[in-house]
Amino acid sequence: MIKKFLDLGQQPLANSYLKKKNLYKKEKKYRLQVGLDIEKKLVSIIRTIPSGKMFNDNYPYRSSISKTMNQSFGYFAKKIKKKFKPKFIIEIGSNDGAFLKYFNKKNIVGVEPCNNLAKLTTRSGYKTYSEFWNKKLAKLIKEKFSFSDLIYSANTISHIKDMDTTLNSINLVLSDNGVVILEDPSLLECLKMNAYDQFYCEHIYVFSLISISKIIKKFNLEVFHVEKTKTHGGSNRYYIKKIKNKKYKINKSVKKILKEEVNFGLNKFSTYLQFANRVKKSKKSLLKILINCKNKKLKVIGYGATAKSVTVLNFCKIKKDLISYFLDTTPDKQNKYIPGVHIPIIKYKEPINKNIDVAYLGAWNFKKEIFIKEKNFLKNKGKFLTHVPYPKFI
Ligand code: SAH
Ligand code: TMP
Repeated sequence: MIKKFLDLGQQPLANSYLKKKNLYKKEKKYRLQVGLDIEKKLVSIIRTIPSGKMFNDNYPYRSSISKTMNQSFGYFAKKIKKKFKPKFIIEIGSNDGAFLKYFNKKNIVGVEPCNNLAKLTTRSGYKTYSEFWNKKLAKLIKEKFSFSDLIYSANTISHIKDMDTTLNSINLVLSDNGVVILEDPSLLECLKMNAYDQFYCEHIYVFSLISISKIIKKFNLEVFHVEKTKTHGGSNRYYIKKIKNKKYKINKSVKKILKEEVNFGLNKFSTYLQFANRVKKSKKSLLKILINCKNKKLKVIGYGATAKSVTVLNFCKIKKDLISYFLDTTPDKQNKYIPGVHIPIIKYKEPINKNIDVAYLGAWNFKKEIFIKEKNFLKNKGKFLTHVPYPKFI
């Protein structure tokens, strides 16, 4: 049974940035509500959108654009090469090849349904299946290559509604001694940071170690190690193996993080109701700050037109009168408009300057990287505004 705890109102599809000519057309919207599956302790959005409507040839998100993600994938690739010496890797949700590129072309294949992205990695010589991950594909890969000793998927499994198909397909092609590594935003961090913008149409689930462990057990899989990472505002990397695989012992990180999650109250529904209350307060407080800026005639812009910020802007009903425009480095977002609230997105060309008083951090998860780039703005008394963990200037 799924019990609703948060209502983020009517929302457009997060990555459906609008061209000018489509501004007056009716946009597809859905009600963004979030609930807890009481048995599995799994947090999910309640109304979901068919995958094909979100992940198609117009999908704009590019992992490689961020220095932080590039670095993180680079370090991690090195680490797993050393630790597992994998012979044949499958990456599910390979996007533009940000992870793939650190491996030898013979040792890895990518799965990426968006053909605009799959084309990029195919062109650079990496075998990429432009398809949704499913049993047929898993079988095909096994027949063509072999069993896989390492399956990696970052920020993707949380985007796929049908967990049964995802995990059954993984089991079909995973060797008995193989390892599955899943990396996704952490529910604990999301609640701690009041990062309600982790919820949007693509993020069907926000996992915890508690929920992941319960879900995979049915497929005879178990987590043997968990690592916290800083990406996307705080994520978990779950190392998973077949229960019968005795090559790896259960690391103490598993017990430690489970304890942390239970102590925070991830098992209790009341924790989620408290979170929902904090979200309501966050909305009021962010609007108060922005209205105050407007009254003082300050120039406020947005920094990073993230999918996450679509949730915030539409939930808080923040329009052009409060944030004049967003700067973004992603080519496919530039010269378009933020869905729902129609704030223009402008190409980021150079560090921001004195003409801007306040920059709202849409890409708050890349704060460190951004602050280095914008050190002069900060020196000149420019201010960044964030809503995490609560609305404030930094
Ligand atoms: N792994 C990258 C990209 C994450 S974005 C990173 O961590 O930066 C999620 C990606 O998953 C998108 O590129 C999307 O097209 C892909 N995706 C979505 N549904 C999928 C599915 N069912 N099977 C495989 N990939 C999928
Ligand atoms: P994400 O939070 O979904 O990964 O998206 C990050 C978005 O922020 C992406 O559209 C690129 C943008 N961005 C900038 O415009 N400037 C930056 O310095 C960084 C790090 C990201």
